[in-house]
Amino acid sequence: MKVAGRVAAGLVLALGIGCGQDTADAPGSEPGAQVALRDAWSDAFAVGAAVTSAQLRRPAETALLGAHFDTVVSEYEMKADRIAPAEGAYTWAAADAIVDHAAAHGLRVRGHALVWHQSTPDWFLAGGDRKTIRERLTRYVGDVVSRYRGRVFAWDVVNEVVGGDADGQWRDSAWYRAAGTDYIRWAFEAASEADPDCLLFLNDYGTERETKLARVMSAVESLRADGVPIDGIGHQFHLRRGQTAEGIERALDAVAAAGLVNHVTELDVSAYRDPGSCFADGTDCAPQIGDDELPAFLREQALVYRAVFDAARARPSVEAVLTWGLHDGQSWLNGFPIERVNHPLLFDRERRPKPALRALVDAAYEP
Ligand code: GLA
Repeated sequence: MKVAGRVAAGLVLALGIGCGQDTADAPGSEPGAQVALRDAWSDAFAVGAAVTSAQLRRPAETALLGAHFDTVVSEYEMKADRIAPAEGAYTWAAADAIVDHAAAHGLRVRGHALVWHQSTPDWFLAGGDRKTIRERLTRYVGDVVSRYRGRVFAWDVVNEVVGGDADGQWRDSAWYRAAGTDYIRWAFEAASEADPDCLLFLNDYGTERETKLARVMSAVESLRADGVPIDGIGHQFHLRRGQTAEGIERALDAVAAAGLVNHVTELDVSAYRDPGSCFADGTDCAPQIGDDELPAFLREQALVYRAVFDAARARPSVEAVLTWGLHDGQSWLNGFPIERVNHPLLFDRERRPKPALRALVDAAYEP
């Protein structure tokens, strides 16, 4: 039986799993930090963060993780290029370290991501006809999902397969060119067979925008019509300053209306509103935010985080919310789309809680 997130979160509480740390000692000095983030939301959904195996070897980072979160996801070490750089030659150490740490500390694990065009090693598609590609994919997905069966409660089976604004309905990836949308079905079927109890997700970015959401929902409709065993949609929600609640709520409502589970999978709130050219070729990117502007941004950011969490609480279909990283110092947004100091997460570079964290644990706080 697949266990819905809210039920599982309740179980975690009832069993005391993951709640053993003394939250009075939560790192940082922002008022409100003594309340653990996960405890503030445990009646509603699981709260997680992306981590690396290297981070889990650093006590200051594991203390922060243990103080505030009940769920983890691997930032990149459970992707195919890391687990299977060559066919059949698996390198499990980093992924195992994350799953083992989670088990030892009462954390749940989201699996991310079985198929992603950016992390597909060449051998998957090299010289293969459809039959060979299907065999390789089925074997890989089966091997990975079976290894973590019962320890990973949800997998992003496919990541970013829906077209972006410049594409059509589907991303024109090497997978798509080799197998149309069948690779998506093959991956979901293999995952479902390997762990029938695991929740299986299609994960994508930009669902806070109406045009992308429409393509995601029509993708879901056609995949389900094709019998693809999909349980939920992962909304990456890589947001930026100025994001309103409307786009968030529309995305969560659309998925709920389709009868699917919602997960917020990669939440962060960038300090920068860049034009498309910044992402395309690094031109006209917003200049690095100055110290004088930072306090105003942090207040604005706190309201965006609160809007996302409140929208999630109001919708029982939302079973997990994860931030893409633990603290500002290790966020991917310091290097993407250009090198620039960014401040996208709930904890600062010294791992101290920011106003955004306070906004999530103290309802009376007005940023
Ligand atoms: C996408 C992917 C993530 C990660 C980020 C950048 O959102 O889904 O796995 O690679 O990009 O860090």
